[in-house]
Amino acid sequence: MLTQAQNDMLTRTGPGTPMGALFRRFWVPVLLSRELAEPDGPPRRVTLMGEDLIAFRDSAGRVGLVEPRCPHRGANLFFGRNEAGGLRCAYHGWKFDVAGRCLEIPTMAADAPTYESLRARAGVVAYPTREWGECIWAYLGPAEAMPPLPELEFALVDPAHRYVSKKLQECNWAQSAEGGVDTAHFSFLHAPVSEGAVAKLPPGYAEQVRWMQLDGAPRYTVVEHEAGLILAGARRANEAETYWRIAQYLLPNHSLAPGGAAGQTYHGQTWVPIDDQSCWIFTYSWNPERPLSDAERAAYAAGAAIHSEVDERYWPVRRRANDYLIDRELQKRESFTGIKGISEQDAAIQDSQGLIHDRTRELLGPTDLGVSAFRALMLRSARDLAAGTAPASAMNPAAYRVRSGLVVTPEDLTFDAVMTRRFGHPQGRFDLVGQHAEAAE
Ligand code: FES
Ligand SMILES: [Fe+2]
Repeated sequence: MLTQAQNDMLTRTGPGTPMGALFRRFWVPVLLSRELAEPDGPPRRVTLMGEDLIAFRDSAGRVGLVEPRCPHRGANLFFGRNEAGGLRCAYHGWKFDVAGRCLEIPTMAADAPTYESLRARAGVVAYPTREWGECIWAYLGPAEAMPPLPELEFALVDPAHRYVSKKLQECNWAQSAEGGVDTAHFSFLHAPVSEGAVAKLPPGYAEQVRWMQLDGAPRYTVVEHEAGLILAGARRANEAETYWRIAQYLLPNHSLAPGGAAGQTYHGQTWVPIDDQSCWIFTYSWNPERPLSDAERAAYAAGAAIHSEVDERYWPVRRRANDYLIDRELQKRESFTGIKGISEQDAAIQDSQGLIHDRTRELLGPTDLGVSAFRALMLRSARDLAAGTAPASAMNPAAYRVRSGLVVTPEDLTFDAVMTRRFGHPQGRFDLVGQHAEAAE
């Protein structure tokens, strides 16, 4: 449970808010690179943490992210012509580059005595961008504190090894992110409810599903490290064995899913607030050991794993306005929710907590340990920044080189030993030295 003031601090990311200031110390993904596919292609509207912006890819392929308002007389640059190295306002042709500089004022003679001084004053606000892991990332913070890009594994691997998508989530970012750290819900929200439904699953996975059904009260271990939190749920498995599902939460808005065995494909998500009542979830799957097949890509595009089936706007097909196409017969016979898709099940239940979940009215139990640790970390990081201490993780990109996943171990292992057995490192660090390790510029 939080106080109203704490809940406000956790959930509000607009300009001038403490959590908004924290997010603005990190790079955040704002578009998929393929949303600005072509140089000089159509500009796109972007709303990011309550700020309305325009994104465009210039003739040289560079991406600009600028305020929409033309400094001449306020026309919206969304309607602008994207041509020859800049975005030209459709009203009187003033033109701006990706850095926000005004390049031309065609309504004035270029040799007029005041031309250069007016042009110098006619810039628009522009935020730095980078392309990284097939996403366009932006940095909205103070220039002197600009960090490196986080070395998340999905962005480091060869493009053939990954698939990236995004989906609209129609609620505040934080309660949706809490779904990523609360892995106890897997015993319920995502569960099949008939033996027939379990039997349809691949055998190894069916066994895990049975463990999750039999043990709905996983014991949580939470460990803090340089970039965030390890959140591990332990359930009884076969005799004298423990089934561990180990997630990671990485500051300020990334989570790595706990469901993969060694060698399997990894999945992760990044929550990016649009405003305080909606967010984009950038969703990525990668396999460090092999390229993804066309069939796997097609399955992810259709909503497999934690991807969502989306329309051309990246809005989920099953969403708030249609009750996620809940099928009550299916709910009786086959699945706990009657909603198709893991991602849509998550979305439905997170949206149902309200546009902004009221954390002053909750009754937390032992399996909410990870949720409490997430809130404490976020609030402490925001308070520290407000008091003058910047988040160290932003300047430590290598700390993001961590993995998540499952492992079955003897029940008497220490947690460090569990982590080392699964990942070869007590914090889940991996090493990709020399392998696609260069950060995009
Ligand atoms: S309002 Fe943009 S050029 Fe006039
Ligand atoms: Fe879930």
